[in-house]
Amino acid sequence: MHEFKYKKNKFYCEDVALEKLAGEFKTPLYVYSHKTIVDHFNKIKRAFSEFKPLICYSVKSNANLNILRILVKEGAGLDVVSGGELYKSLKAGVKPSKIVYASVGKTDEEIQEALKAGILFFNVESVPELENINRIAKKLKKKANAAIRINPDVDPETHEYITTSKKENKFGIDLKAAGEIFSSMDKYECLNLNGIHLHIGSQITKAKPYKDALKKIIGFIKANKINLDYINLGGGLGIVYDNEKPQTAESFAKAIAPLLRKINARLILEPGRFIMGNSGVLAAKVIYVKDAPTKTFVITDTAMNDLMRPSLYRAFHAIVPLRKKSRLYFKKPVDIVGPVCETGDFLGKSRKFHKVEGGDFLVVLGAGAYGFSMSSNYNARPRAAEVLVKGNKYYLIRKRETYQDLIATDLKVKGI
Ligand code: LLP
Repeated sequence: MHEFKYKKNKFYCEDVALEKLAGEFKTPLYVYSHKTIVDHFNKIKRAFSEFKPLICYSVKSNANLNILRILVKEGAGLDVVSGGELYKSLKAGVKPSKIVYASVGKTDEEIQEALKAGILFFNVESVPELENINRIAKKLKKKANAAIRINPDVDPETHEYITTSKKENKFGIDLKAAGEIFSSMDKYECLNLNGIHLHIGSQITKAKPYKDALKKIIGFIKANKINLDYINLGGGLGIVYDNEKPQTAESFAKAIAPLLRKINARLILEPGRFIMGNSGVLAAKVIYVKDAPTKTFVITDTAMNDLMRPSLYRAFHAIVPLRKKSRLYFKKPVDIVGPVCETGDFLGKSRKFHKVEGGDFLVVLGAGAYGFSMSSNYNARPRAAEVLVKGNKYYLIRKRETYQDLIATDLKVKGI
């Protein structure tokens, strides 16, 4: 976060003014700080150093190849959830033996691709999936490592859409069924059932849900006399978007270390948001300012298709002008919205906001995770460009899509 700040009245990422980038590359524009990415990765690494964990960055949070490469270079493994993410991860040069693969719906093709690549292990989410991986491994004459993803039925106290550990959620396997799997593991002749996976949710600000889940897991390991090679704790560490007070990586590690010490297995972590969330921002340009009876609408060129989190979860993202021109505020509450034809298309709602006008730039903070990776072409809007800043240098790491890109995969079919 410290790498995004005002110097005098201009907003900077590291040593580069965002106005310069917005001018050169246009908006909507994602901008990432190299230093913050590496710092955040190392914060987790340091906090858990006692356990020498394999930190598998969660690719879904931001899958730009360059970001993956930066983290792989730092020693990260990768957590993938699809054939596409596996493909990108291999292209980023990660060793297959540092890839873990979760998802409730791995297809035959995806399982095959992962087995052929030689990933570290699958995080398995159901009995039919387990049987399927065993069957495909047998066909390929391979033996696969499998961690059973446990649904511990704890409340991670986060938004309901990113809660994954309650019994009504689709993820993981309940303790009773997991016990049955481990006691009948001989029937999976091509699997090493040698891990347990937990991923209880995302944007979790306290250690307690993790502790509750780990206690259940420790009881489970003892009761079922299981030997593990891997304990995968998933991701989920919360960050500051607004006035949250999330635990630091260090206090989180301290809180759960006594429990982890009771589990004799290699620790795997799968952070996404913690590394990327506050490593990126989204620059937008004001198109119009519209004064309505009860509100002022600041209409930008950046919309829900670029950053879906406010629309989907009513997530709060701080929004600030790129240049502090005036100390004046709009009198009415301000909605910062995009041009998309949906009432749910907003970046921020009912804000007290600095006076801005058409042509001014704004920046949406905390947009590095689940920003670009969840963006779409809705309303036939080309997806944004992405820039990485490193000190006083900057690099375009993804081109802005063009109108041609929008039709590149639509087929021209005769006779219809
Ligand atoms: N491991 C697994 C198996 C996951 O499903 C996820 C995220 C992670 C790790 C990384 O979680 P993190 O450290 O980033 O919390 N789109 C939502 C977040 C969805 C998270 C999905 N799974 C958002 O924008 O808040």
